[in-house]
Amino acid sequence: MTPPPQFFILGASGDLTARKLIPALASLARQGREFSVLGLSRSPKTDEIFRAELRARMPDELLDGFDTLAPRIGYQSVDLSEAGQVEALRERAGAGGRLFYLALKPELFGSTVEALCQSGLLCRGVDESHWQRVVVEKPFGHDLASARRLNAELHKFIDEEQLYRIDHYLGKETVQNLLGFRFHNAIFDPLWSRHHVELVQITVAEELGLGGRAGYYDTTGAVRDMLQNHMLQILALIAMEPPATLAAESIRNQKVAVLRGLHLHDVGHNSVRARYTARGDTRGYLEEEGVATDSMTETYVAARAEVATWRWSGVPFLLRHGKRLPRKNTEVRIQFRTAPLQLFNRPEGMSEPDFRAQLEAGNLCQVRPNVLTLTLQPREAIGLSFGVKRPGNVMQMTPAELSFDYRDQFGETTAPAYERLLLDALLGDQTLFLRSDEIDASWRFADELRGGWDAAGAPMHEYAAGSWGPSAADDLFYGCEGGWGV
Ligand SMILES: NC(=O)c1ccc[n+]([C@@H]2O[C@H](COP(=O)([O-])OP(=O)(O)OC[C@H]3O[C@@H](n4cnc5c(N)ncnc54)[C@H](OP(=O)(O)O)[C@@H]3O)[C@@H](O)[C@H]2O)c1
Repeated sequence: MTPPPQFFILGASGDLTARKLIPALASLARQGREFSVLGLSRSPKTDEIFRAELRARMPDELLDGFDTLAPRIGYQSVDLSEAGQVEALRERAGAGGRLFYLALKPELFGSTVEALCQSGLLCRGVDESHWQRVVVEKPFGHDLASARRLNAELHKFIDEEQLYRIDHYLGKETVQNLLGFRFHNAIFDPLWSRHHVELVQITVAEELGLGGRAGYYDTTGAVRDMLQNHMLQILALIAMEPPATLAAESIRNQKVAVLRGLHLHDVGHNSVRARYTARGDTRGYLEEEGVATDSMTETYVAARAEVATWRWSGVPFLLRHGKRLPRKNTEVRIQFRTAPLQLFNRPEGMSEPDFRAQLEAGNLCQVRPNVLTLTLQPREAIGLSFGVKRPGNVMQMTPAELSFDYRDQFGETTAPAYERLLLDALLGDQTLFLRSDEIDASWRFADELRGGWDAAGAPMHEYAAGSWGPSAADDLFYGCEGGWGV
């Protein structure tokens, strides 16, 4: 019988381990998954103390799962920059598959993988029952050059098939449902292209500010923290061609083709950066503790991009993300083109020829009745708007909506993102992890945007905390295209 696999958590005394990884593993243990856990970091503590600390942070509903797992959780104090100490870990290594989870600062990724390889704990090309894999937390680099350096460093010791770059957004049920929705419901297939889609909006709005991470955020900003990874992953799932199968490479090949085609024409004209200012009791970004007083870090980004593929050429993809917006909301809106001839809703007293002329001249805008809204957070829902005749003797069309809510249908929803991703890593399924060329293409776009701002000396707009962002972002919509969904 194959011995059960072992999770090595490198960075075991950190926040991610207690808040995300151990709860996900406790839930998997409750479902009967067999594995053991060895926590590693420098802080000295015994197995018992480590377990007690973790248990104290466990949500009540997972305590039974944690107690099932606890006898299989161990701890070893180790400084990963000391080769001798890493070597000593071999004594606690089991004979089954090994998963090394790097819950560490990114600066330690390369040297840690090197030390694990040199100790013989992590090797290339082992047989299937003795698989050895590495999960790497985000951020993966801070621009294209550093991501490439990190890739090259890791590839010196392990193969791409062993490398699981995490973007926890991809573990979310509703993000995966983008694939299901698109490729199971054939009625949308003929509509899903430049012929019928006028524009696509992707919004990731956060109500929170820096959450005690000012030091990290001030050297990162909205583009690198959110747009380069989570938002471009959502965009890739919306715009990709159908994969031939659900195999990881089949899906990742299609996603990377979209990301490679993603462009911004005239950055100065088609993007906006901004930072929040104080409102009421809420401090402005520059007043936050830990933020440099002359900081040029953006807490808001909006961009009008294009995907240069046969399917999407000419369709704007409007991306928007900001901190300290009115509420948390992650949403995709697919706005369909209007009917070729506007028959309804002629303003009272306007003649038919005048109505046509005003529409033609762009002085009057046709209503966009058909918008498909895929809400990913915090509600998980799908809505389709359409026009209906308002009851009465006049032919007047008015908006209505078909809507579906996950919670209404399925009750309290589904597995947290980390649980799904850890299970997939355990099972060797890389579909929901990022391949090196995806990372490359995403950083190329993020660098193009940020580099464009710097080169053009783009203004840093301001918006009051708790508002929907700077008014300059409204100008990214042209003519009758409308505006941001919320
Ligand atoms: N926290 C989150 O929600 C979150 C979300 C997304 C991504 N991430 C990413 O996940 C990673 C970890 O985040 P975190 O918030 O858990 O960070 P953290 O709280 O700072 O934890 C870092 C861990 O690394 C250990 N460590 C540092 N130097 C070490 C060394 N030389 N040898 C052994 N262990 C060492 C620390 O323990 P000792 O000091 O005891 O050695 C600690 O356990 C980062 O890359 C972060 O960007 C975190």
